[in-house]
Amino acid sequence: MNRKDEHLSLAHTFHRENKNDFDQVRFIHHSFSGISIDEVDISTSFLGFSFKQPFYINAMTGGSQQAEKINQQLGMIAKETGMMIATGSIRSAIKNPTLASSFQIMRKENPTGVIFANIGANLSLDNAKQALELVEGNGLQIHLNLPQELVMPEGERHFSNWLENIADIVANLSVPVIVKEVGFGMSSETIETLLSIGVKAVDVSGNGGTSFTQIENARRLKKELSFLDDWGQSTVVSLLESVSYQSQIAVLASGGVRQSLDIVKALSLGAKSVGISGTILNQLLTNGLEETIAFIQQWEEELQLLYTLLGKKTTADLLTTDLILTSDLIHWCESRGIS
Ligand code: FNR
Repeated sequence: MNRKDEHLSLAHTFHRENKNDFDQVRFIHHSFSGISIDEVDISTSFLGFSFKQPFYINAMTGGSQQAEKINQQLGMIAKETGMMIATGSIRSAIKNPTLASSFQIMRKENPTGVIFANIGANLSLDNAKQALELVEGNGLQIHLNLPQELVMPEGERHFSNWLENIADIVANLSVPVIVKEVGFGMSSETIETLLSIGVKAVDVSGNGGTSFTQIENARRLKKELSFLDDWGQSTVVSLLESVSYQSQIAVLASGGVRQSLDIVKALSLGAKSVGISGTILNQLLTNGLEETIAFIQQWEEELQLLYTLLGKKTTADLLTTDLILTSDLIHWCESRGIS
């Protein structure tokens, strides 16, 4: 089976919506909301874009027939809902142009929507331009996936050029760039380094949902490195790590988002918007296109309710929400000097 098809199938098989760090964050209930539901505005803005909902479809696939079918449906969902969407890594189509249509279908289905083209940090500025051109991208996502590459039998083994590539791309592209993890989270040191080379937006993409070390381990015939299945920081921890940089860099969050309440928690911890991969893929493969669109619309309605419950009229207002972290998170913050 093609690697991209294996990723889709294993991500679906391993999809879990069990407990994760979002459950370690609780809102304090106050009895007086002080606002009406029709005053609530769940829209968000970052990198010069505005969206009617504070969540988006994060990078997933491309590069096979099955991936083309899924990208077609993801493109339809994005068009119908007005959501931002990212392609899967376009590297395969840069190397083999016959695979281009499996990515371009997303633009075909969603001609005027905001699409981010996705590449890895080992690719060059020229590759970034090719990826953008291929899908007429409005922006670029560059993914960081060191643990995945190491566990992947055929994975990359040279990582010394990543920062140089990112710096070159950020300095020379005219479209916005998001540097993202792929489910392993970010530390404050990583964010500070990215800030120092001119990066304006990160997606901390933490653990708690899709695990690419688990997926790659399942593709290894022997010598599983399963002790790395749970590697990385959770999305909540990564957001806490990002707090002192949030005024200087747009912080997006993804990883382990199972329900609308998780989105509100991520926004309250400073994310400008929240990416979802595994949960949307699972919906689409289990229930089909129409139900997935209805599911997303349901989340938009739930967000209206949750903002009202918290007494917050806008996404930015969520930053002043009263929340409590459980002792594990407090311990992390104390150990890392996060106040
Ligand atoms: C991904 N993800 C991903 N990320 C990326 O930057 N480039 C890629 O090509 C892919 N490919 C991919 C395939 C599949 C099937 C899945 C489910 C995910 C990672 C994704 O964007 C996200 O960072 C993580 O999956 C964590 O979010 P969830 O899945 O827990 O919501």
